[in-house]
Amino acid sequence: MGMKVWYNGSVVEEPRIPITCHALHYGTGVFEGIRCYKLTNGKRGIFRLSDHIKRLFLSAKVLKMDIKFAESEIREACKIVIKENGLSDAYIRPIVFYNFGRIGLNVLKENVDVAVFAIEFPKYLEEEVRVKISSYRRMNHLFTNPEAKISGHYFNSVLATLEAKEFGYDEALMLDSEGNIAEGPGENIFFIKGETLITPPSGSILQGITRDTVLKFAKDLGFRTIIRNVSVHELECFDEAFFTGTAAEITPIKEINSIKYATSLSKKIQKYYQKIVRGEIEKYEKWIEAVE
Ligand SMILES: Cc1ncc(COP(=O)(O)O)c(C=O)c1O
Repeated sequence: MGMKVWYNGSVVEEPRIPITCHALHYGTGVFEGIRCYKLTNGKRGIFRLSDHIKRLFLSAKVLKMDIKFAESEIREACKIVIKENGLSDAYIRPIVFYNFGRIGLNVLKENVDVAVFAIEFPKYLEEEVRVKISSYRRMNHLFTNPEAKISGHYFNSVLATLEAKEFGYDEALMLDSEGNIAEGPGENIFFIKGETLITPPSGSILQGITRDTVLKFAKDLGFRTIIRNVSVHELECFDEAFFTGTAAEITPIKEINSIKYATSLSKKIQKYYQKIVRGEIEKYEKWIEAVE
């Protein structure tokens, strides 16, 4: 039996997308990546669902899409695909895209399809990763709106990933157009120096929801946080570094180019994050939406 997908308001098995689909040719889709967890109390919960759906609608606004559904309907669709496919620990992918219009770059604002599917998705990256600074720069506001999660943006991330793998690394790290550290191909980055967590500002990064989660819980673990530009020359001065992302969760970085890092504090942060997403920390239960 195929995967059950929520497509424009109905649950269907593996919808067929026409070869003329605009998003296939020009990357004119917007999407989200969301995780559902089996909670410690045995129920299923989706982490920061409403924040993800809000970002989806913001991304759609950048591409001037008329979405025929309300945010609440898409949130409900995320729960439906979890239930219909009998999943608990899973990755949910809502995607909104320009479907058939015409060959050409103009689009019809109302020609927008919405699909939501979910898959089992255990680990995205290795336990600890070796990272290579990419020769591809992360795009900035002069090219696009880097804060929108637009399908077409990801060719940049794919190139960076291919390059890192070719050189035998696990993941890439992209610089912004000024040469400061920006982010990974699908992750934000934090550095640890003493009791301080440092992460690059908005401008050339996707403002990650996991990044926001870490910024909000850091003080529970005794860290203060600073958002500022980080230059490549500082990399040698940091104690540790880690990636954040819905897919990557918290992933300790053991090496950037040839600079080696300890991972013990990153692992402590990783463990705390796992407790939060599995509903073990009461004050953060507000971030979990139950799948009834
Ligand atoms: C380029 C990029 N940066 C950062 C992130 C992390 O964002 P989030 O924590 O919202 O998943 C992602 C993943 O969505 C991404 O694709």
